Amino acid sequence: MRFDVKTGSVTQQRTACLILPIYSEGPLPQATRAIDSATDGLISELIDAGDISGKTGTTLLFKPSDGLACKRVLLVGCGTRGAFGRKNLRKALSSAYAALRKTRHETAISYLNMEPVKGADAYRRARISVETWHSGSYRFTAMKTENRDAPVSQTSLGLAARPAQKAQVRKGIKHGDAIGRGVSVSREVANLPANVCTPTFLVREARRIAKNHKNLRVEVLDEKDMQKLGMGALLSVTAGTIEPAKFIILKYLAGARSKKPTVLVGKGVTFDSGGISLKPGPAMDEMKFDMCGAATVLGVFSAIAALNPSTNLIGLIPACENLPSGTATKPGDIVTSMSGQTIEVLNTDAEGRLILCDALTYAQKFNPAAVIDIATLTGACVVALGKHVSGLLSNSDALAKSLLKSGDNADDPAWRLPLREEYMAQIKSNFADMANVGGRDAGTITAACFLSRFVDDMNWAHLDIAGTAWRSGSQKGSTGRPVPLLTEYLLNQH
Ligand code: BES
Ligand code: MN
Ligand code: ZN
Repeated sequence: MRFDVKTGSVTQQRTACLILPIYSEGPLPQATRAIDSATDGLISELIDAGDISGKTGTTLLFKPSDGLACKRVLLVGCGTRGAFGRKNLRKALSSAYAALRKTRHETAISYLNMEPVKGADAYRRARISVETWHSGSYRFTAMKTENRDAPVSQTSLGLAARPAQKAQVRKGIKHGDAIGRGVSVSREVANLPANVCTPTFLVREARRIAKNHKNLRVEVLDEKDMQKLGMGALLSVTAGTIEPAKFIILKYLAGARSKKPTVLVGKGVTFDSGGISLKPGPAMDEMKFDMCGAATVLGVFSAIAALNPSTNLIGLIPACENLPSGTATKPGDIVTSMSGQTIEVLNTDAEGRLILCDALTYAQKFNPAAVIDIATLTGACVVALGKHVSGLLSNSDALAKSLLKSGDNADDPAWRLPLREEYMAQIKSNFADMANVGGRDAGTITAACFLSRFVDDMNWAHLDIAGTAWRSGSQKGSTGRPVPLLTEYLLNQH
């Protein structure tokens, strides 16, 4: 799909389909009014006849009278004018694109982004317009033998812009395209089943992304390397499977050499059965999504590599399976982490923190400005926050604030939970330096407390995406979150 800026007058736009906004009340928006006049009031007539209500997400496609440069008009309901915010813009766009995709019109020009939106300037509205195209056109087809959807006919989408806002709209398109693609990259690897998406597959995926973008480098540690580094916590998780663990290192170094990098660490458990502390059967299939942190890192790298900002970014993906077997780690086993600290594994299902802690220790060698780990870490996070916001814990108020703001701006919100010394008591062990679980209370916080023991004085934040990374039920599938939050954050860093 090609996206361009269109500054011409609406009545002159030569396109297969003009996408125009209407509200549920009040006068027609400017562009819509211009087409209404040019068609002798055809749009007013359709509204008066009740062919379209203006409710958010309603659409009506019609062929205007000859003489206009466009072949079709798609009216899109935007709801109440005063309530037109980013959410309604996304909803209206999704419906518009869905209607468009049912047609064979190859080109379209949207005027929805011309409408004022609370909390979104021309840049943001353009970016949303392109992100929404990507999220709406993503389909998981890799494992289906027949594709029941008709192929998408659209090849170009224009976004209308006032000449003065051309540069802003162009930037919005560029960012929206990169983020939208990054989200799709993340969704695709996450949706693949665990028998395809193994740690080795994640390596191939990282290399594939690096091949598409000349500014990325990939290094991979195998189990022997991990052994040498003393990553005993990570290795204890992979002990039960024959699938080899991998530690993937991605490098994007486009900033000054003196500029400290941001390090992203993504949990890459390609299947989490719980290990010897086996999970219950129902919904266990969803534990193929336990590598969504890793998928996020891959999505963010693909977006950042496409945008090429002058910043330094390192990605770390500890990747393995968590399975039970005769060689698996047992409850009560004590392992030594790369940091030298010992851990009593009281529950083999609390494996995410075991692979992350060694990755956090490894992150220290980059002397980072900030380390952000992303993990589907605790079911408790879903209980606490549900599926709408990611959990955020951090040892730095400034970093936390900046991430929360990025999440809000990108419509990919997070919510901070307290990381307090008092909770540390819950992960005390009688036999090792710490236990890997802290009991029923405050499970998301004790998991973060555990991780905090491996970050020393680095600026660090932890995103628990257990609730936000995928949807269950009939819409089961990866969301690609929090690629938008993190890309937003990184773009603000330079
Ligand atoms: N990957 C799970 C967390 C999870 C569970 C995410 C359900 C989304 C939905 C993680 O490895 C895990 O099993 N955590 C345990 C920790 C517990 C044993 C302290 C959990 O949340 O039950
Ligand atoms: Mn687990
Ligand atoms: Zn897990």
